[in-house]
Amino acid sequence: MNVKLTRRTFLAGGTALTALVMSGLPRRADAQSGTVNLYTSRHYNTDEALYDSFMNGEINMIEAKAGELIERIKSEGVNSPADVFMTVDAGNLWRADRDGLFLPVNSSMLESKIPENLRHPNGHWFGFSKRARVIYYNKDRVSPSDLSTYEDLADSKWRGKILIRSSGNIYNQSLISSLIAAHGDAAIEEWLEGFTANFAREPEANDTAQIRACADGVGDIAIANSYYFARLVKSTDPADQEVVRKVGIFFPNQGRGERGAHVNISGGGVLANSPNKNAAVAFLEHLASDQSQQYFAEGNNEYPVVEGVSLDPVLAGFGSFNADPVNVARLGENQQAAVRMMDRAGWR
Ligand SMILES: [Fe+2]
Repeated sequence: MNVKLTRRTFLAGGTALTALVMSGLPRRADAQSGTVNLYTSRHYNTDEALYDSFMNGEINMIEAKAGELIERIKSEGVNSPADVFMTVDAGNLWRADRDGLFLPVNSSMLESKIPENLRHPNGHWFGFSKRARVIYYNKDRVSPSDLSTYEDLADSKWRGKILIRSSGNIYNQSLISSLIAAHGDAAIEEWLEGFTANFAREPEANDTAQIRACADGVGDIAIANSYYFARLVKSTDPADQEVVRKVGIFFPNQGRGERGAHVNISGGGVLANSPNKNAAVAFLEHLASDQSQQYFAEGNNEYPVVEGVSLDPVLAGFGSFNADPVNVARLGENQQAAVRMMDRAGWR
């Protein structure tokens, strides 16, 4: 497993005593200390700055892919030193929860600050930032007035024009799960046939590659998470600026009575075997504070979950939009069905 471990130590008053990189594994903290052992698949520099501002104790951080961390927490079992698991996509949080890894947390602070549909109904995990999975279009070939909903993307008018990455990607699995939540299995099974028939090419590469291919005219429209486009907008690379000049962002399902654009989260929860549960809860509450929310969201060009926290100017420039209000926990529940259907539809 490819992991990176950093350790920071702070006085209760907030003055840094030491900041060192450890080569070994964190030990189980004794229950009285303020140490929080964080296993995370997020990897942004601003996240580290954010963890530095946690004044209740020190953060030991292990970084790896979500699946690797889930396996590690399971194999460590009752002896796990991990207090908090953070990751991206509600599908990953759902998988960890299915394996019984999370402790239910009652925090009136978290419940009042984080919208109900962006956290587990019983406090097993909480969303701390959100991203929209939306449509990008080649401005030379498509007018925004040609675009409307995700559902419309199965229409034969898009034959050979849609760019999207593989069905193995959890962002796509969650998107299809949201469509299943809205329409049921049978309708989406049929919809997927039309949708996959409209692909411009065999799925390949990542979200950013779909947006670039859209600019290059490989297809007319692409589907990708909002922060990848925001990254291109902020890039000073002339090639990226050219992509941004050629491609527009479109938030689907915004019409009257429509459910809104598909939104997913970055989030985390306290682990059932956490040696330091109180500090772990305090850490989650820290992430929901206004100051942290701004940092956490901006670190990956995401939207804060807490109402009233100011938005990154690039995201603000995309315009406001309605988000699908479905509880993101549903995305995980529908995931297995989504994977089976995508496979049957020939989406590789
Ligand atoms: Fe991503």
